[in-house]
Amino acid sequence: MSRRGRVLDELGLGPEWVRRDRPAADAGVVVRTPAEADVPAATSVAQTPVDRNLALPAEGLEARTAEILQMDWEPLAATVADCRACKLCTGRNRTVFGVGDRAADWLFVGEGPGAEEDQRGEPFVGQAGRLLDNMLAAIALKRGDDVYIANIVKCRPPNNRNPEPGEAAACRPYLQRQIELLRPRLIVALGKVAAVNLLGRDASIASVRRQLLDYRGVPLIVTYHPAYLLRSLPDKAKAWEDLCFARDTMQRLKAAT
Ligand code: URA
Repeated sequence: MSRRGRVLDELGLGPEWVRRDRPAADAGVVVRTPAEADVPAATSVAQTPVDRNLALPAEGLEARTAEILQMDWEPLAATVADCRACKLCTGRNRTVFGVGDRAADWLFVGEGPGAEEDQRGEPFVGQAGRLLDNMLAAIALKRGDDVYIANIVKCRPPNNRNPEPGEAAACRPYLQRQIELLRPRLIVALGKVAAVNLLGRDASIASVRRQLLDYRGVPLIVTYHPAYLLRSLPDKAKAWEDLCFARDTMQRLKAAT
């Protein structure tokens, strides 16, 4: 079996699907990516800006952040469920707080909910989520068992676009507080949006993967987003390397304490 075939098998994606209208040599996995998936054209959230908290003067913003950073899990979840801090709230069905073991060593951070997550209120339950579950299984992990999963933004960006900087900023204190409460041993950022927001600087995935980075004192590793991997076969091998790096790093972190 080819290296690519082995990687696909490890990630639970085998056998490789080949499009009938394309020669095998340039075959890709044929999937509908979230960006192409069932997005109603009429979902135009951007027309009704709310940004109430964002319109607050700096002291108001600081007070909101300070308040959030004091919260325990339940008030934090309730505050997220009611959040109207940016315009994403106008288009959501449900907020997607995060899911998993609140004493987890592992935290995986994605970008933001897609259509299925918005319906169900749980992160990574669509097609990308199935790949994430396979990626977890490939390093002997399971959703909810020593693993917590969250996103940079808690509401679905319309048409699966990237969250805007102001939307990510409005949501930032929530994830920061989740991380303070969780105190994970290791964070894995899934994709560029998660990486850039957690690092606080622009960077390509290629330039920061396979490095042990840091989010406010918590070790941080970056890899590709599962939705991207669904459409980019060659980078699955790199994601597999990143997962092995993460698994080995966790072993070292555990051995050091
Ligand atoms: N993509 C993400 O980044 N997060 C989800 O929860 C689902 C898809």
